[in-house]
Amino acid sequence: MSSDEDVAAVSRHTHFIGKKENMIRARRVVKSVGERDVLVIYHQGDFHAIDVRCYHSGGPLQEGDIEDFDGRTCIVCPWHKYKITLAEGEGLYQAVDPSVKPLKPTWCSKGIKQRVHTVTVSNEDVFLTLNDSPGPIDSDYYQTEKYRNTFLKE
Ligand code: FES
Repeated sequence: MSSDEDVAAVSRHTHFIGKKENMIRARRVVKSVGERDVLVIYHQGDFHAIDVRCYHSGGPLQEGDIEDFDGRTCIVCPWHKYKITLAEGEGLYQAVDPSVKPLKPTWCSKGIKQRVHTVTVSNEDVFLTLNDSPGPIDSDYYQTEKYRNTFLKE
């Protein structure tokens, strides 16, 4: 691939989404980019980007609290309190081994459930690069036209 083709390939998936100062002030914004609706969060000095509708049942993650669980920063879906790591989109849950007394819950992973995207900052401009990795991720279901039209009108 030539360097011109490299630039074209990158720009197809990378989109300017705002000025850094404004994005930091807003803390959370929902951006419709390409065919996805993405929640961009500024939290403790870092930007994160994640599909806006929860993989479980389409809950509005833009209204979720951010908390640390087992040392990992998660967004907590406001609908059924599922915990999703901001960095990887991993679903976390607590489990108990009934054969071990006293019972002690431990954090476990369901694997990657929510598609996360990449945010970069250049010259005070913020860019979003969509994660187009192949293979379905559960949150993809809520990026279909049916759900985008339903949820965006609410
Ligand atoms: Fe998010 Fe159920 S829709 S936890």
